[in-house]
Amino acid sequence: MCGITARIGEDDSLAPLLASLQNLEYRGYDSAGVAVQNGRGIEINKFEGEVSKLQSELADSAHDGPVGIGHTRWSTHGPPTDANAHPHTGCEGRVAAVHNGIIENYTELREELQGRGHEFTSDTDTEVIPHLVEERLADGLDPEAAFRDAIDQLEGSYAIALIVDGEPTIYATRNGSPLVIGVGEDANYLASDVPAFLEFTDRVVYLEDDDVVAITPEDHRITDANGDPVSRPVETVEWDPEDAEKGSYDHYMLKEIHEQPVALRQTLHGRIDGDDVSLEDFPPGSFEGVDSVQFVACGTSYHAGMYGEWLLSKDGVEANTFIASEYAASPAPVDEDTLVIGVTQSGETADTLEALESARQRGARTLALTNVIGSTAARTCDDALFIRAGPEIGVAATKTFSSQVATLVLLAERLVRDLTGSPTDDHAARLDALESLPEHVEVVTNDTQAADVSQRCLGDNGHFFIGRGNAYSVALEGALKFKEITYGHAEGFAAGELKHGPLALVTPETPIFAVGTGHYQNRLESNVNEIQTRGAPVIAIAPRTASGLVDTADEFLPVPATHPDLVAILANVQLQLIAYHAANEMERSIDKPRNLAKSVTVE
Ligand code: F6R
Repeated sequence: MCGITARIGEDDSLAPLLASLQNLEYRGYDSAGVAVQNGRGIEINKFEGEVSKLQSELADSAHDGPVGIGHTRWSTHGPPTDANAHPHTGCEGRVAAVHNGIIENYTELREELQGRGHEFTSDTDTEVIPHLVEERLADGLDPEAAFRDAIDQLEGSYAIALIVDGEPTIYATRNGSPLVIGVGEDANYLASDVPAFLEFTDRVVYLEDDDVVAITPEDHRITDANGDPVSRPVETVEWDPEDAEKGSYDHYMLKEIHEQPVALRQTLHGRIDGDDVSLEDFPPGSFEGVDSVQFVACGTSYHAGMYGEWLLSKDGVEANTFIASEYAASPAPVDEDTLVIGVTQSGETADTLEALESARQRGARTLALTNVIGSTAARTCDDALFIRAGPEIGVAATKTFSSQVATLVLLAERLVRDLTGSPTDDHAARLDALESLPEHVEVVTNDTQAADVSQRCLGDNGHFFIGRGNAYSVALEGALKFKEITYGHAEGFAAGELKHGPLALVTPETPIFAVGTGHYQNRLESNVNEIQTRGAPVIAIAPRTASGLVDTADEFLPVPATHPDLVAILANVQLQLIAYHAANEMERSIDKPRNLAKSVTVE
């Protein structure tokens, strides 16, 4: 949800800045811009459109320099236009700023500034920042004091990077939006997320809210809101830069679908110990005293949370899943015995962070289940459990869903043991199957049948996805993936709910994907019969062993037979491939679907 980046070195910064912006584009792609200063003034270039447009506009740029900031935008205030693109400057062009987040009091600040003669050229909330800083510079404050004075006046969430003409320093701060320093050999970096500068350095410093940082080519100095020095550790990230590149694949999404076996091996590595689970930081007994679990999450992560709820509930642990944006508005009751788990790939989703904060303030114990070490969720929750899927760049989440669910299977095992005093019923068989999950997923990613099936239903005017139990969450996820990247109408339903209304939508032009796991099989078959009676084609996604369903369905996409609690993870991979191939045939913008962005840091 907007990506900001900055670089300061002894050499020119434009090329690495543009590379960083490309790496950050999954956070927004409405418009992009850079500002570079070289002692002869600040030059800003910014355009509506993707980073590639900015790159081609700047191909022959003569204006380069050692200090620069960049931005890729997902519009909140004002449509995507050249004028609304970042960086923004004030009346005198002495300052340029990039911002991610929302300045809630920008209307008042803007009116006050206009009353003092400032003229604005955009509709954005961001533009007040360089105006405020310029005003304080004109009053005689030094750049850091002027920056501090400006941010003291801001309300809302922000990560800001700012440069001042003639100053060999980048100033930055964060409050509620992510910001990371990259510590390089001959240059230092700043960005919303590590993949931005991973090709230049893997040494990072995660900033905390209210940190103010001044970065030079050799050094970075962090102070708190009062100006007192703060020390933050320099950490080394383990992600390989190649993990964040597309390689030979046409799209990040396809690459990430195919990476799932590797991602799952990383997720599970060292965590299955015979017929027990060994979770780092969570020795046996860690969850004693917990009497119920609440999952809070959004989108795909919400569907993973639903899967987790199903796993816990079937073994007698009270569990519920909440859409994070609703939870903040009408929070479920909690006490100190409630474990609230924020399922969030990025660890930065504002709605999820707000829900976790609401639970924390009311005394609940909080746990972040996330992919990103150092993310806000990981740092602000009582505990964090990492899914270790590696960087995910495609806006449509794929490998992180599989790794989230695999981690939830492990966590469920541990929770059930701690809360009930005994393991899950068939824990040995399920953990055995979990260890084989990477190779089972590999069978699915190597299967080419989804491409053919997706071609056959391209012209249809609606695509429905059904399942029961754990397959219900996957039906919702299959529909989300399909609508997100094809822009076609798709809905997921609990199979038993069709007859209570949605069946009215079913015609021969509405193909229905039925996810069979082995659980509730006879009932699912009855639902399939109800659909076929209305003339709709049914595509079963199930192991061959689900012979009743397989024989009834019009088409069949196989997944390996495994423990029924895990089959839905495999079926979900087939559904990812269905969505991918349909969108590819329709020539959609698969990695950057319209109107969306990865990591939604506004509420
Ligand atoms: C869909 C998708 C989104 C995210 C949601 C939550 O493919 O990726 O629905 O799942 O925005 O994001 P995280 O998991 O980062 O909190």
